[in-house]
Amino acid sequence: MPKRAVFCGLGAGIPERVLSNADLEKLVDTSDEWIMARTGIKERRIASPGEESSVLCIRAAREALAQADMDPQEVDLIVVGTVTGETTFPSTACRVQKGLGIERCTAFDIGAACAGFVFGGAIASSLFHMGTHRTALVIGVEVLSKITDYGDRSTCVLFGDGAGAALLRAEDGDRGILASCLMTDGSGADLIQLSYGLPKKHLDGALETPIHGTITMEGQEVFRFAVKALADACFRSLEMAGLTPADVNLFVPHQANLRIIRSSMEKLELDEDRVYLNIEKYGNTSSASIPIALWEAERAGRIKRGDIVLTVGFGAGLAWGANVIRW
Ligand code: ACO
Repeated sequence: MPKRAVFCGLGAGIPERVLSNADLEKLVDTSDEWIMARTGIKERRIASPGEESSVLCIRAAREALAQADMDPQEVDLIVVGTVTGETTFPSTACRVQKGLGIERCTAFDIGAACAGFVFGGAIASSLFHMGTHRTALVIGVEVLSKITDYGDRSTCVLFGDGAGAALLRAEDGDRGILASCLMTDGSGADLIQLSYGLPKKHLDGALETPIHGTITMEGQEVFRFAVKALADACFRSLEMAGLTPADVNLFVPHQANLRIIRSSMEKLELDEDRVYLNIEKYGNTSSASIPIALWEAERAGRIKRGDIVLTVGFGAGLAWGANVIRW
């Protein structure tokens, strides 16, 4: 029987600076009422100068290692889901390896946008099945504020910064990632992307043309895709695990938009006490949203050993996927 990827530590790297809907009302023509009604977001966190992606990752990873009481040298795999590493190369994962002082491991980033953490977990699980790796840090991190145009009200209200890390260990037994479903549809590649050469407004009001590019999005098309993709990934992965939505103790979806999540709750017939929601506090942190939600949920006593936890991510690519986990 191949070994399974068991979650044994969680951590988060959350910037202190809060950007509220009231703050955004001063930057663009929007309102707290509109943002809450259309997205469910009240505030989001913004990285301060020096809080680069790898810095947030290392903070999250240290907490996950401490929870599992594990020496960093035991980590043999680091997978970081991100589209906002501080450099295109080296990878953020290599910077995390350096920051944690890990001498030998395999470290790489994956670019699956908001599905990055789910893809990362599935990749770690596959390498555990192959027997080549035993202990993985799977991290989702984004500093989306650097690619957000604070003059574009249709996107700037959505996004926030942060990191979440999970320490996964290869174990025998029935706990761990039971099934994964990873999907992409490149025909939707232009619907949400990082476009280069466009001027954008910085948070302080200055106009700049950032070398990192700027987020552009066809919001309604992405919305329609997300509603379908979420349910699709959940049903496929649950079927692979021989389970149904009735078996799910906690549903932890990517926190992109409350209306998207509510529509999937209806399709899966899940009521609010089996769903973890924190979009109100952090907005859409892309690949970081699921691990931050898992970290909070476990600390709040919403996840217990043996629970079935369903995580699902969706975003640019288009890419979407789900992991069914026995905690
Ligand atoms: N404040 C006030 N008005 C706004 C704002 C705002 N922040 N943004 C747009 N509007 C206006 C529009 O200009 C439009 O005005 P008009 O009718 O005069 O033209 C009106 O509100 C309606 O705009 P819509 O785009 O139809 O609004 P919608 O209800 O679709 O909500 C939103 C927009 C929130 C972006 C929605 O489409 C959405 O959430 N899409 C999915 C986006 C998403 O989740 N992306 C992330 C998934 S992928 C990832 O995580 C990277």
